[in-house]
Amino acid sequence: MLSKGALAVAVSAIVVEAIDNGLARTPQMGWNNWNSFGCDVSEHLLLDHAKLITEYGLQDLGYEYVVLDDCWSDGRDSKGKLIADKKKFPRGMAAVADDLHSQGFLFGMYSSAGELTCARYAGSLDHEMDDAQSFADWGVDYLKYDNCYHMGRFGTPLISFERFNKMAEALKATGKNIFYSLCNWGEDYSYSWAASIGNSWRIFGDIYDSFARPDDLCSCNDPANPACIAPGTHCSVLAIINRVVPYIDRGLPGGWNDLDMLEVGHGGQTEEEYRAHFTIWAALKAPLLLGTDLRKWSGSDLAIVTNPAVIAINQDPRGRAVQRIRRNFNVPKDEWGVGETHIWSGPLANGDQILVFLNFANEDLDMGATLEEIFLTNGVGGTAPQNKQDWAVHDLWGKTGGAMSNEDAQSILDANSAEGRKQKLQKLGWYNSTELSYAEGLKREDPRLFGERVDTIKSGGRLDVRVPRHAGKAFRLRSLSGEKIKQKSHLKKDEL
Ligand SMILES: *[C@@H]1O[C@H](CO)[C@@H](O)[C@H](O)[C@H]1NC(C)=O
Repeated sequence: MLSKGALAVAVSAIVVEAIDNGLARTPQMGWNNWNSFGCDVSEHLLLDHAKLITEYGLQDLGYEYVVLDDCWSDGRDSKGKLIADKKKFPRGMAAVADDLHSQGFLFGMYSSAGELTCARYAGSLDHEMDDAQSFADWGVDYLKYDNCYHMGRFGTPLISFERFNKMAEALKATGKNIFYSLCNWGEDYSYSWAASIGNSWRIFGDIYDSFARPDDLCSCNDPANPACIAPGTHCSVLAIINRVVPYIDRGLPGGWNDLDMLEVGHGGQTEEEYRAHFTIWAALKAPLLLGTDLRKWSGSDLAIVTNPAVIAINQDPRGRAVQRIRRNFNVPKDEWGVGETHIWSGPLANGDQILVFLNFANEDLDMGATLEEIFLTNGVGGTAPQNKQDWAVHDLWGKTGGAMSNEDAQSILDANSAEGRKQKLQKLGWYNSTELSYAEGLKREDPRLFGERVDTIKSGGRLDVRVPRHAGKAFRLRSLSGEKIKQKSHLKKDEL
């Protein structure tokens, strides 16, 4: 039994949120060049993409950070300050920041908590104060901080924490409020300590453009394997979401589990796979960072990442991720022996519930869940009050409400001027979160955020759906019973 004092300490430890720098109240959204361009960076690349992000309507859906990844620097000057590569950034970084700011964007840059960055440019280890000040002086709003060449300073959570905390303190010392995005791949259990110093933290190795194919470069395909030390690269969508399951609840307003950038638009997955990938990233409250060449997109790529009903799940003010309520291996396997299905469920700010079915099996399948399962965390064994209510079922990818059609999206890509694109977006009545925030749109019950009403679940009942092979289905459940059940806004004393 806890003493009163111990209880007070435990309570305050629990209700404390992630770092309180006012940033990342909902997961960050934006674009990062790495997955498509690697080291082929320049100010033109960033500014051309920023222009497209605006013209495609993405900026006004919340994609606001333009993040420059590795390979931008050219060593240090005689005073030890980082210098930008003059060929890639002839006007320097501050000019790029100014241009992005004048277009309403926020600017992200990259370094590593190592002697070198991952592509072997100068890293910031033991240069934290100097480099943080350079970023602040240039007007940088966001730092992605990698983990390569750390000179052996890893191996326990404390050693890694101290190495990453040095940059957190250096950023703070600049007086500029800079978003701190840790990229140490989940090494040394970063999900257990990063929330106190960062606004997001990677939980696993780098994503690659595959829905479920295992690859040995993702060394921790079996997360339970004790030999799994370096998480690696080439991690599939399936490998990454399986990895985050035990620490889903570490993501809260202020700091988020980072599942890595989105692969939508890269070309290696089917339309259904990309839709499922985007949906589960949104539902897990992961950062939504587009990672591909926008000039090569198809209509379906644009239609996926512009679905306001799905983005509204990600940006829901309550900030609680879905949890996995069922995993089933007893399904047809593919040539790599992969085959499983998942059901995920989680609460939303207004008392609605998000429900996601994912099919990683090698066949179309019937899947279903009872209200008892869906509201498991509100009461085990059907004791949840929600189990006794009727629920309207809204399909977030339904034909009316939710995503734009691939044809409409293609016509935006094909329009040959900024003005032409804007007119098409306005004719479609596309959601504009610059005008109406997601929080406010949800409060006003804006139909564009709620998907298509397709079904009803009666009290004590269940929902059954057909889920195609390598696809997902996502629903927003809305109570039809007059009395709304008051959702707890946060962990409270009585949950201890
Ligand atoms: C969204 O709203 C803002 C603010 O009213 C406006 O400046 C912008 O042009 C709108 N975006 C689109 C695509 O219509």
